[in-house]
Amino acid sequence: MKTGFKIVICGGGSTYTPGIVKNLLDEKELRIRELWLYDIDGERQDKVARIVKEVVRTFAPELSVFVSTDAKEALTGANFIMAQMRVGKLEMRVKDEQIALRHGCIGQETCGVGGMAYGLRTIAPMIELIDLCAKYADSKHWIVNYSNPAAIVAKATTLLRPEARILNICDMPVEIEARMAEILNVKLEDLEVDYFGLNHYGWFTKVRALGEDVTEKLKEHVAQYGYISKASYEDALVKDPDWLHTFKNSSVIMKMFPDYLPNTYWQYYLLGDDIVEYSDINNTRGMQVIGGREKRVMEAARRLEMGESIDLQQFFVGVHGKFIVEVVKALAYDTRSRQLVIVPNNGAIENLPDDAMVEIPAYLTSRGPEPVRVGKIPRFYKGLIEQQDACEGLIVEGAIEQSYQKILEAFTMNRTVPSANVAKKILDEMIEANKGYWPELK
Ligand code: NAD
Ligand code: G6P
Ligand code: MN
Repeated sequence: MKTGFKIVICGGGSTYTPGIVKNLLDEKELRIRELWLYDIDGERQDKVARIVKEVVRTFAPELSVFVSTDAKEALTGANFIMAQMRVGKLEMRVKDEQIALRHGCIGQETCGVGGMAYGLRTIAPMIELIDLCAKYADSKHWIVNYSNPAAIVAKATTLLRPEARILNICDMPVEIEARMAEILNVKLEDLEVDYFGLNHYGWFTKVRALGEDVTEKLKEHVAQYGYISKASYEDALVKDPDWLHTFKNSSVIMKMFPDYLPNTYWQYYLLGDDIVEYSDINNTRGMQVIGGREKRVMEAARRLEMGESIDLQQFFVGVHGKFIVEVVKALAYDTRSRQLVIVPNNGAIENLPDDAMVEIPAYLTSRGPEPVRVGKIPRFYKGLIEQQDACEGLIVEGAIEQSYQKILEAFTMNRTVPSANVAKKILDEMIEANKGYWPELK
């Protein structure tokens, strides 16, 4: 019998792949037999693979790395599939942003009309991946999915493939926890949080550091400074001016809504006018990523091809890779690690529908997540979540039924869109821009 796991990174050409691979190699308890990169864009993946091979050569030269654009070959016998596809790539991210901004709306990759447009591109390829895994991968495989918009992907995959072995995750809460740990001057591992909401739409209700309740202390800090500690200014993530702006914005929200500590993504839903004002249609976030993270990755790949040396450390920042590897380890070895993941509500939040896909703490076993009970939530939060859940549900139903009407309803219902007139104008432009990516709407 073969020992160790076959791990596949789907979306091997992603800018995050080298960082994830480094974290896989760091996790000495995880026995890896083969590491595969799989992508539909072979040319792009080959470039990123050069960096990956350099990472493996440096940190685990005995490991075999395979690179493929053939789903059958890549997925056959796979134990863990880490998914991080960006359907339509950054080029479509920019289109979403610019169409929305032209109408004074939020086109962020996961929020507002941007998130809905990206959702409509991603549902079908994610279902296809699930079906391919059911056909070729090990019968006990797990797909651990980062592909955005994770909220819509989770809603669609659970509805269409309820038996699928997929766990949808997001690194934002744990990135915020890393900021909290810095603020409190404790280790990330020493924090335990209570949290509820949808993906990119949730709140920390309690934070404990080594068992001590530090919630009020953190709220005071966040109301004043946002999720920024003095040390954070030196951190690579916060060197990015957009993220610095985002982490600071949490102070505005904390002051206005002092019940709970907000996820940073609330800025798009609660401070939408400020965000539109702050955004530059000629230098959107997608454009910044193309000129920043993507450029750095492609430049490093080019240098390796020329036989030059590169600084690998630049790819190992943040908790993104560490978090997904921690989740894989929990599913592999039944560690019962407590993590925030996206699961069907099924009564966990008592006064929300069972089929809402909620982000809450769960203990991760080899059979999957065992979510904690959250209980009832107050009306303000319940109302916000119900509206967003209905909106995401309409996107999924609209995609399945190819219904223009349902997608128009979703766009109209989203709290970032001011009127049905604006919703319709944006939708009609997005249908044109997404030809070949969206289901045909009738
Ligand atoms: P990227 O554009 O650099 O890479 C994405 C890769 O996916 C590309 O190489 C592309 O060819 C590939 N791809 C597209 N469609 C595919 C398909 N059907 N099958 C296989 N591969 C496919 O993107 P990125 O900025 O590195 O981000 C990757 C993904 O991870 C995005 O969806 C992003 O939103 C997501 N992400 C999620 C979280 C989270 O918190 N859930 C965090 C970070 C990134
Ligand atoms: C966080 C979120 C992800 C999102 C990413 C965007 O990590 O959790 O869902 O994809 O930020 O970062 P970017 O640098 O591409 O704007
Ligand atoms: Mn996320």
